[in-house]
Order: sequence, then C-alpha cells, then structure tokens
Amino acid sequence: RAFDVAVLGATGLVGKNMIEILEERGFPINNLYPLASARSAGSTITYKGEEITVQDADTFDWTQVQIGFFSAGGSISAKYAPVAAEQGCVVIDNTSHFRYEPDIPLVVPEVNAHAIADFRNRNIIANPNCSTIGMLVALKPIHDHFGITRINVSTYQSVSGAGKSAMDELAKQTADLLNGREVKVESFSRQIAFNCIPQIDVFLDNDYTKEEMKMSWETQKIMGDDSILVNATAVRVPVFYGHGEAVHLETQQPMDVEQVKALLRDAEGVVLMENREDFPTQVGNSSGKDDVFVGRVRQDITHPNGLNLWVVSDNVRKGAATNSIQIAEVLIRDYL
Ligand code: A2P
Repeated sequence: RAFDVAVLGATGLVGKNMIEILEERGFPINNLYPLASARSAGSTITYKGEEITVQDADTFDWTQVQIGFFSAGGSISAKYAPVAAEQGCVVIDNTSHFRYEPDIPLVVPEVNAHAIADFRNRNIIANPNCSTIGMLVALKPIHDHFGITRINVSTYQSVSGAGKSAMDELAKQTADLLNGREVKVESFSRQIAFNCIPQIDVFLDNDYTKEEMKMSWETQKIMGDDSILVNATAVRVPVFYGHGEAVHLETQQPMDVEQVKALLRDAEGVVLMENREDFPTQVGNSSGKDDVFVGRVRQDITHPNGLNLWVVSDNVRKGAATNSIQIAEVLIRDYL
C-alpha cells in the first residue's frame, strides 16, 4: 500500500533532505505534496527525477494526505498541525512545539518505537531534538544494562542545525575574514567563523539555554524514566554538518568498559569505533550517514561507575529527517 504524503518546509534544509531520504529509502508514496510559504509556492523540487510544484501550505487541503512531515518552524507547526491532524493526516513534527505535551509521543525508533502507538491521541508524533537523538541511540543499551543515573554532556553542534542561512553565514564570514574584510553577524549572537558559541536557542530562567533543557526533558520522556538527570552545555561550533557530543555518565551498577563496548557493537543504529586512534569526527564519519558513531569509550578515572564517550551523528539526517522517516516506517508497518 502506498501513501499520500506532504512535506511542510519542503524548500528548507531539513525538508529537502526529507524528500531525498524518502526517495532513497523507497518510502511507499503515491502522491508527494511539497509545501512551503506563499514565497516559495510555484517553485519546484525534484523527486524520483520528476519536478513537483511546491504549494502554499495556507491553502492546502489536508484531506488529500495520510502522512505529513513538518519542518517549517514551531509557530508554523502550531498553526497547521492541529488542522492537518483533525482532517486525518498523521503529523510527524520536527519542531519542538508539541514535544513536551504528555499525550504526544516523542520518538527515537531505536529507543521507544512502542510509543508510536500513542499517535492516536492527537494524530501527532514529535521528532526529538537533534542532539538528544544522537545521544540516546548510543545510551539506550547502556541504560538497559547498567541503569544510567546521571549524564553530563557538552555538545559541539554544527551550523546546519540553524538552517540554510546559518550555513551561508559561516561560509561568508570565513571567506571575509581570510580576505581581510569586515564580518557581519546575523544568525548567531557572535561571529561563528573561527569561534565557538555556548548559546543555542534562548536563555531560560535557570540560566540554561532551551537547547540544554531540551536534552534533559527529552531524555526523560523518551527513556520513560524521570530519574535520569541530564546536565548539558550546548555549544555551536564552526562545522557545517554533524553534531559531536562529549558524554560523561554515571550508572547504578558498576560498569565494565568491555561489556559496554560489546553492547554498543550490537546496538541498532550505532557504529562503534573501537580502536582509540579511530575516533569518529563530523567530517569523514557522520556527514551524510544515518548511523550514530561512538568512540573514545573509556572508564571515568574520577568515578567508579563513570563512563566517557564521544558521540557523533548527522544532525540533518538522523537528527531530523531520517529519524522522522523511520518513525513513519514503523507507523505504516504497524498501525496504518
Ligand atoms: P519558504 O521557502 O516558503 O520560506 P530553513 O530551516 O532551512 O530555513 O527552512 C524553513 C522552511 O520552512 C522553508 O521550507 C520555508 O519555506 C518554510 N516556511 C517558513 N515560513 C513558513 C510559513 N509561514 N508557511 C509555510 N512554510 C514556511
């Protein structure tokens, strides 16, 4: 059986990748409807060698589709998701807008595919934050085996997480600086070329950024365990694709590094790079891939139940587009 599918935000970075990955994975599509704002309506995208016209989301008839992938920003999802859902379209939403509502499932298929069943509550399924997805694919088997009590994580997040304009800004600032020209700062609160910025998303009352608190809230919801404490520092780095994460965790049970490696070797969606010189990096390992790459696995010398690891994944693919499509694959296999 094939489905009629809408991609909202089809002209954006994630939306474009979604359309590519739908084709790549052979998702059973009958009619594909790329949607964006009135600005882009009338332009075309290519799917399976055919040009398809982008339509204005504002005038779209949602009864035409059974599945909608939304990646046009939180306020756009707030406006269209309830309408689409009401008209029978299951919305898989990549924004943070619905993630923390208790009756909306928040899903990483390798971790909590069972939660997809709750799509029936509202006809909406939320796709988690990109850094949370990469981290949890790697940590799920460790949690199942040893019980993670606390996570300290620092992220090294690429500019593609902030969309196409942020990528253009990194390229332009770099070229301008190397050519002795003035730089213009627009996408971030500081210059991003040759710099690291410890602010992603807005600051909250507790002085953490929203990106950091997303990792905390989402880890508990996806793992289904409010006792896991997550302390995050999220940093934007001058890298185009891929997020790196230095993860330090503590477990209930004493942990054996060799056993952890054995678990990661068998874990779904994980590529363990075991030789210490073989650690993964954004360039060369994760870019363009759907797996989560793990290296630098070692015992924490400061804590008997402590472990360190370095996790790298493609934020646009596994962190957004691929994960959404994997959710849809389970949805159509088990529920539609
Ligand atoms: P548009 O091309 O019409 O602006 P990115 O994250 O790369 O910046 O992409 C954002 C995506 O969200 C684009 O596809 C953009 O389409 C879409 N978008 C932005 N605002 C709206 C809106 N008001 N209605 C529908 N789609 C929107």
